[in-house]
Amino acid sequence: MKRVKLWDKEFEISLSNTEIQLAIKQMAEKMKHDLQGKETLFICILNGAFMFASEIMKEVELTDSEISFLKLASYSGTDSTGEAKELIGLNEEIAGRTVVILEDIVDSGQTMKGVITQLINKGAKEVKIATLLFKPDALKVDIKLDYVGISIPNDFIVGFGLDYDRRGRNLKDIYTLVKE
Ligand code: IMP
Ligand code: MG
Repeated sequence: MKRVKLWDKEFEISLSNTEIQLAIKQMAEKMKHDLQGKETLFICILNGAFMFASEIMKEVELTDSEISFLKLASYSGTDSTGEAKELIGLNEEIAGRTVVILEDIVDSGQTMKGVITQLINKGAKEVKIATLLFKPDALKVDIKLDYVGISIPNDFIVGFGLDYDRRGRNLKDIYTLVKE
């Protein structure tokens, strides 16, 4: 099994880039079908979703859509702090629009819950969530995930945008923390 070391921790490969790309293609097919003619605003949640957003946007091929990038941070080390942060860098008009949030992973769901609430408060017509990864056993809030790439166990992972203390985001496969 392929392993990487980030800082003091060892990680073992758990999802190959091929598996990830396949999941993204399947999500894109569904999104293309649902969002045709809706003039969708996609919002990539930085930093984690940068790689997912890049891949899915190439597959979706909707000519009436736009993409924007939003920054928020709610994670430090390997424990979710659970609080929803302010949306930084959103300059687009949200009122009356179909918005699709592009997220790397839904863990407790608190981050997504906070983002949805803020977008609805700004007058979004509908807010959908597209998350590459989902940890069903970690979910603590009531949210609807419209597009889910891969459901995974409740373990800490890195790669394909996800980091462990800023490292590992550039890895093209996904790795799971090896428990000592
Ligand atoms: P939630 O608010 O608990 O759903 O946390 C979501 C955010 O926590 C994601 O956007 C990620 O940035 C981060 N996160 C959750 N699980 C992991 C993980 O296993 N590795 C790295 N980051 C994670
Ligand atoms: Mg994130």
